[in-house]
Amino acid sequence: MRIGVASDHAGYNLKPGILAFLEEQGVEAVDYGCGEGERVDYVDYALKALAGHAAGECDRLLLICGTGIGMSMVGNKHRGIRAALCVDDYMAEMSRAHNNSNCLALGGRILPLDEALNIVKIWLNTEYEGGRHQERLDKIARIEEKNFKSLQES
Ligand code: RB5
Repeated sequence: MRIGVASDHAGYNLKPGILAFLEEQGVEAVDYGCGEGERVDYVDYALKALAGHAAGECDRLLLICGTGIGMSMVGNKHRGIRAALCVDDYMAEMSRAHNNSNCLALGGRILPLDEALNIVKIWLNTEYEGGRHQERLDKIARIEEKNFKSLQES
C-alpha cells in the first residue's frame, strides 16, 4: 500500500514523524508537501495529494492541517474519497471497519505525535468489515453520482 501524505504549515509538526513511522512499518509514502517553514493554504496541498491519488500514485491519503477539519472538508468534496477526521483510536478503528475510510485527516494542533502515530497504525491495520456497511457506503456513492450528474447538466 502506498500512502500520499500532505500537510499545511499547521500540520507540518506531525509530518516528519509520520513519514518516519510509515517507513519503519514498510509502508511506502509519497510526500506532497508542504516543506518545513513554508506558510501555505491547506486547500492547495490537499488538492496536490488528491490529484496524485486520482492519477494512481497512491492508494490512500493522509492529510494534516491544524485541526484536520479543513483537510477533511476538501477531501470529502471528491468522488470516491471517504475522508475521516480522527482524534482517537476508536474513531480510527471505526473509520476503517465501518466507513472504509481511504483518507485520514489529522490535526497537528490537536494531537501529540505519539497519539497521532497510534491513530495511523490502527487506520493502516484495520480491515473494512463490508456487509451492512457497504449498503450505507453505496448510498453515499449514489449521492456523489447524483451531484456529479447535476453539475455536468448545469
Ligand atoms: C491554519 O491556520 C488552519 O486554519 C488550518 O491548518 C486548518 O486547521 C484548517 O482547517
